[in-house]
Amino acid sequence: MVTIKDINNVKSLKDVDELVQICRRCILYKTKISDVPGDGNSKASILFIGEAPGEKEDLVGKPFVGRAGKLLDFLFSKIKLKREDVFITNIVKHRPPQNRKPAKEEIKACMLYLKSQIEIINPKLIVLLGSTALEVLFPKKKISKEHGKFIRKENNLYLSLYHPAAAVYNAKAKNILIKDFKKINDYKKYL
Ligand code: URA
Repeated sequence: MVTIKDINNVKSLKDVDELVQICRRCILYKTKISDVPGDGNSKASILFIGEAPGEKEDLVGKPFVGRAGKLLDFLFSKIKLKREDVFITNIVKHRPPQNRKPAKEEIKACMLYLKSQIEIINPKLIVLLGSTALEVLFPKKKISKEHGKFIRKENNLYLSLYHPAAAVYNAKAKNILIKDFKKINDYKKYL
């Protein structure tokens, strides 16, 4: 069992999960129902990063289990990728009330968990789902320009995609997302 003192000495995904459970670094713990640290394969080659848990995720304690998650599952099936082979997380690990965007200070407070997850999993490809994930890692970049493009930074390879939630009711965005998603299978060319 980790304690808050272990925050700079995180060794496993289980440590991250336990620290998220006791986290008081921002106000989101006050309104959350569940902790949503992330889910999937600890040895995954591909790590997906969304924005924040929504209502369903907050109830279930897992990322992308609502409407956007259904679309993500459909996208996985299109490229024959299995959810259990990848790891999925979010920029912030607790649901912002009313599904508002996470505030700057909430993102800042939560970053150490994401950093630890990236270090522990050491994925070959990091897929950024939507503008929040992209702009946190690449503050000057815009999703409208970057979607479908690979970016290399400090030994990590990234691919940015439109957020599945933005594509649920928008046929044009969905078609772009389907097309961009297929590029995931090309990542080895960029290693
Ligand atoms: N949207 C996200 O960004 N993350 C989730 O887990 C669900 C919806």
